[in-house]
Amino acid sequence: MSDQAQTGEYVVQPARTDDIDNIIHSIEQLLEELSGKTGIQLYQNSYEWCRRVIEDPSLGAIIVCRQKRSAKSLVGVITLSISNAIRVPKPYAVIEELWVDPAYRSVGVGASLLDEAMKFAEKSVLSRLEVGLPPFGFPNYTATEQFYGRNGFSPVGARMKRIL
Ligand SMILES: CC(C)(COP(=O)(O)OP(=O)(O)OC[C@H]1O[C@@H](n2cnc3c(N)ncnc32)[C@H](O)[C@@H]1OP(=O)(O)O)[C@@H](O)C(=O)NCCC(=O)NCCS
Repeated sequence: MSDQAQTGEYVVQPARTDDIDNIIHSIEQLLEELSGKTGIQLYQNSYEWCRRVIEDPSLGAIIVCRQKRSAKSLVGVITLSISNAIRVPKPYAVIEELWVDPAYRSVGVGASLLDEAMKFAEKSVLSRLEVGLPPFGFPNYTATEQFYGRNGFSPVGARMKRIL
């Protein structure tokens, strides 16, 4: 990943450990938006996992976007984890979370975060990026699917989960 990819008033760069509180808050807002619920709080170990990913690129990456003038607050974040599968020749990255502050949408922040994620994947010699789409009932499902399509992603089918 280049250390800094600048997009006009914004800077897209690898997260630092002093971003963790803001990253967790961003992901809570993402989950609230996707679920339509309020008051979501992440788990106690989220902070520690965030720190480990920031410090160890073999686990994945966290890339943030901030306003140049207000270096502390985040306007967007993307998190990646690294996975392996027999069906693909090299490890690949899964986009776990992607969120842009609603006040900063539609100015290319999401696309810039995806670009930096691609650079991280290329530098880490990964074979692809994968992402799960939001739940089918999500009001912006089609817009989200089109957003990824415009940024070079193609469909691979829905994912399912079983909670342990
Ligand atoms: C999807 C998302 C990251 C895009 O961020 P962004 O910075 O607005 O992206 P860009 O400016 O590069 O592209 C904008 C396009 O994203 C699309 N889009 C997808 N979801 C959208 C949403 N919830 N609100 C607004 N636009 C959305 C629109 O088509 C928009 O195009 P338009 O400006 O012509 O309407 C952002 O809308 C978001 O955080 N959405 C809520 C969380 C989410 O859905 N995350 C992905 C989960 S898999």
